[in-house]
Amino acid sequence: MNRRGKFIAFEGIDGSGKSTQVKKLTAFLRAQGHNIHSTFEPTDSPIGKIIRDIFNHQMEGDQRVIAALFVADRLNHLLNTTDGMLKKIEEGYIVITDRYYLSSYAYHSIHGIDLDWVIQANSLSAGLLRPDVHLFIDTDPEQSIDRLIAGRDNIEMYENLSTLKKVQQMYYDVFKKVGSSENIRLINGNRSVDAIFEDVLHQVRLLL
Ligand code: ADP
Ligand code: TYD
Repeated sequence: MNRRGKFIAFEGIDGSGKSTQVKKLTAFLRAQGHNIHSTFEPTDSPIGKIIRDIFNHQMEGDQRVIAALFVADRLNHLLNTTDGMLKKIEEGYIVITDRYYLSSYAYHSIHGIDLDWVIQANSLSAGLLRPDVHLFIDTDPEQSIDRLIAGRDNIEMYENLSTLKKVQQMYYDVFKKVGSSENIRLINGNRSVDAIFEDVLHQVRLLL
């Protein structure tokens, strides 16, 4: 594909501060006059809603089903003709997503789903649209939990300390495994919002 826009994916454990940085970056780049499409996974499509219903215990869902739903949600996120990311990229938008396939690699592996299967199952998405950069907000699980407790009252399925530690470790394992096939930048998330944002901007400026 002759890509016109840029594609930035934010990653990190729950509570790492991703969404905060996505919002700041979106506002900053818009103020500079860029066309920005800011989005997230799980999406707000019907497939994303099923995922959220499972996480909120409104529906039953085996871990294998969850992993497969994320594959479908992501393909729809890319391909839907209303505001799909591919369409937005072709229109010249800078697309910023809060989570992409590296989240699947990290989160589903900790539930015993074979990482090679997850990578293969997401290969259509990776083939369609690989991020120019994955920005991993690298925040200690202890800090992440503290932030979540301070900021919210409903802690989702994955959000307890031992799980966050496993997910964090899985991300590091995934980074080793994918090596240079992905452009991944780690940003120290154990700092103020503004200090993190400075590093985010530095990485983004390298692309624009
Ligand atoms: P994520 O999207 O990674 O789950 P959020 O951006 O929603 O994380 O942040 C989780 C909570 O922590 C929110 O209440 C947010 O306001 C707060 N927060 C985000 N970044 C920081 C930071 N650098 N320092 C302190 N609190 C933060
Ligand atoms: P999200 O709404 O981004 O939560 P948070 O703001 O706390 O990071 O994501 C919801 C959960 O979905 C989160 O715990 C991570 C999980 N997830 C997966 O398990 N697989 C995936 O492919 C993605 C994108 C998210």
